Amino acid sequence: MNIILMGPPGAGKGTQAKKLVEKYGLVQISTGDLFRAAIKEQNKFGVIANYFIQYGYLVPDDFTNEMVYDYLKEHLPEYKNGFILDGFPRTVVQARELESWCKELGFNIDFVVNLDIPSEVLVKRLSGRRTCKNCGTTFHVEFNPPKVEGVCDVCGGELYQRADESEEAVKVRLDTYEKQTRPLIDYYKMKGQLSIVNGNQSMADVFHDLEAVLEDK
Ligand code: AP5
Repeated sequence: MNIILMGPPGAGKGTQAKKLVEKYGLVQISTGDLFRAAIKEQNKFGVIANYFIQYGYLVPDDFTNEMVYDYLKEHLPEYKNGFILDGFPRTVVQARELESWCKELGFNIDFVVNLDIPSEVLVKRLSGRRTCKNCGTTFHVEFNPPKVEGVCDVCGGELYQRADESEEAVKVRLDTYEKQTRPLIDYYKMKGQLSIVNGNQSMADVFHDLEAVLEDK
C-alpha cells in the first residue's frame, strides 16, 4: 500500500502519516524531514534547501527530485508494507517524475489523498506547532499539548518552533502552496486517483475518514 498524502502546510499530513505508520506498518517519507536532516548534515541538498526553506519557498524541482529518487532507490527494498509520501510531489513536474520512477523502480501509487482544510485554520495550526528536537514528534500548544510544557512526551527532548513558522515564512508557504501545489489536486482528479478527506476536524476523526478511504478499496 503506497500512499501520497497531500494537503497545504499545517493540514496534518505529518500527524496523520504517523498514525498510518502505527496502524499499517507503513514507512513515512517526509521530504520536509529529509531536507531538515540534510541541512543538519550540511550535505549538498542541505546547503541548497536551507535557503529556500527558511523563506518558505519550495526547493527547486531538480534538487528535490534527485534527493527523493536517491532515497527511494536505496530504501525501497526495505518497505515490506508500503510507504506514505508526505510532502511529495508538490508540483506537477514532481508528479510526472514520480510516475517515471514507478516504471523504473517497479512500484505503484495506490492512493492519493488530499487533506482539505480552509486556509484560516492553517495559520493557527502552524503558529502553535512545537516539534521535538530529538525525535521529531509534533505537538500543538492548544490542540495537542505536551504533558509538560516544552518537553516531548515520547522521549523527553526539548520542543522548539521551526524556522519556517515565522509569520512571514508561513505567508509565503501558503501562497506558494496555492500557486505551485494546488494544481496537483486537479492533476490527480483528472487521473481519477484523488480521494479527499476533511482535514478540518479532530485528529481522531480525520484518521477515521482516512482509514475509511483506504479500507474501502
Ligand atoms: P514540510 O516539512 O513538508 O512542511 P509542510 O508541508 O509545510 O507541512 P507541515 O509539516 O508544516 O504540516 P503538516 O501538514 O505535516 O501538519 P502537521 O501534522 O505537522 O516542508 C517544509 C519545507 O520543505 C517546504 O516549505 C519546502 O520549502 C520544502 N519541501 C518539502 N517538500 C518539498 C517538495 N516536494 N518540493 C520542494 N520543496 C519541498 O500539523 C500541524 C500542526 O497542527 C501540529 O501542531 C499538529 O499538532 C496540529 N494538528 C494536526 N492535525 C490537527 C487537527 N486535526 N486538529 C487540530 N490540530 C491539528
